[in-house]
Amino acid sequence: MSDVIFDVRDVTLRFGGVVSLNDVTLHHLRGEILAVIGPNGAGKTSLFNSLTGVYQPQEGSITFVGRNEKSVSVIGRKAHRVASAGVARTFQASRMFSALTAFENVKIGAENHHGFGVVGAMLRGPRTRRDDRLSDERTVELLRFVGLTDRANTIAASLSYGERRRLEIARGLATNPQVLLLDEPAAGTNPSEKVELTNLIRRVRDEMGVTILLIEHDMKLVMSLAERLYVLNFGSVIAEGTPEEIRANPVVIEAYLGSSATQAGGS
Ligand SMILES: Nc1ncnc2c1ncn2[C@@H]1O[C@H](COP(=O)(O)OP(=O)(O)OP(=O)(O)O)[C@@H](O)[C@H]1O
Ligand SMILES: [Mg+2]
Repeated sequence: MSDVIFDVRDVTLRFGGVVSLNDVTLHHLRGEILAVIGPNGAGKTSLFNSLTGVYQPQEGSITFVGRNEKSVSVIGRKAHRVASAGVARTFQASRMFSALTAFENVKIGAENHHGFGVVGAMLRGPRTRRDDRLSDERTVELLRFVGLTDRANTIAASLSYGERRRLEIARGLATNPQVLLLDEPAAGTNPSEKVELTNLIRRVRDEMGVTILLIEHDMKLVMSLAERLYVLNFGSVIAEGTPEEIRANPVVIEAYLGSSATQAGGS
């Protein structure tokens, strides 16, 4: 299992009486586009929060294998430490600085990666001009990659849904991650924006070599993008397989018909 980037074993996460993750075991291969699907409340975002150090499961283990095969035990580690080990994410609800421009939003991510974030800058005094140029160049490059060059000076609040979603991906990439976790990256977008996002996510893996973990309610998008999927229901993994296997799995069909999430198409 040397190609594993995330190794999740027997993870249980509870909030009082609510079991958000129930004995979850799964693995994510380096370079893979993997998806986690399941009805509303199944535990998908809880899984992301556990993988990124935001939630602390009571049981089980989560190992992230980062740069130079360095293993990091995620549970008990602070979220910013997990992030600097090489795990980036986007959020289900947009967390953009809406009064800042697209350029500024990405640049904040790039600067944090160089270790002089907001607090660092205050403690350390002004950054060197070289540092500034470095993150400027990276920001320009990332905006070009996601197709937002001509929107660089537009404030985030004025961007379309699809543009905002692409900007979030650029921000995630600014930390130079090994793996990017995308929580419903196409939520709220129209069909043509969904196609653009599908192509962009595939390019992130193909051209940048970043491993992708994806939560998505849009079945068309997720089935065309994911190489393998896990299905969660009530906190438990109920199925694993290729898109073809998942589509034909009666347990999965049952879970979705029970919740009618296929028709709802998102939260
Ligand atoms: N911080 C929290 N405190 C209490 N309960 C929580 C917390 N986070 C998640 N839960 C509960 O865990 C369960 C799984 O929620 P989660 O957000 O992971 O589902 P999801 O699969 O992402 O759903 P959706 O598709 O609606 O985004 C729900 O019952 C939810 O109420
Ligand atoms: Mg969620």
